[in-house]
Amino acid sequence: MSEDSLPTDRHPTLRVVPMPSDTNSAGDIFGGWIMAQADIAGSVVASRRARGRIVTVAVNAFQFRKPVFVNDLVSFYAEVVRVGRSSITVDVVVYAERARHKGEWAGECVKVTEATLTYVAIDDQRLPREVPPEHN
Ligand SMILES: CC(C)(COP(=O)(O)OP(=O)(O)OC[C@H]1O[C@@H](n2cnc3c(N)ncnc32)[C@H](O)[C@@H]1OP(=O)(O)O)[C@@H](O)C(=O)NCCC(=O)NCCS
Repeated sequence: MSEDSLPTDRHPTLRVVPMPSDTNSAGDIFGGWIMAQADIAGSVVASRRARGRIVTVAVNAFQFRKPVFVNDLVSFYAEVVRVGRSSITVDVVVYAERARHKGEWAGECVKVTEATLTYVAIDDQRLPREVPPEHN
């Protein structure tokens, strides 16, 4: 499978189409928008694994490989890669399906971003709590 193809063995955690309001001054999608969506996608799988409240403690790595444009269909694939006592580390891979050019669907798919984020399971006092054992 090409690195620039959508994974066929899993579903995206999040799919979003960025709007003109998400662009930077050059007209491309603002990196901070992609970071926010990646954080949301990572938090979806982390809070499921933690079975409760979590917070983002660190962005360990974030690489913007290719630009994202208005109207691209952007898919975020998040996967838990490490579970510690209270922490959960998640890899997020992001693909953009290029949108319409001159009214036609371009159909091109590119891997645009790779990121690793760490979340911490917290209790009602906002203190770290143990991640519970995984459900079978
Ligand atoms: C997350 C938070 C509760 C951790 O509290 P803490 O007292 O530092 O807790 P600890 O030192 O016990 O660390 C908790 C876990 O986080 C991990 N951790 C802490 N800093 C980390 C970092 N920079 N990178 C990766 N993991 C980190 C620790 O290794 C530990 O993991 P483990 O329990 O699996 O061994 C606290 O730092 C916090 O509330 N931060 C703000 C979170 C927030 O508001 N996020 C939104 C962004 S503004």
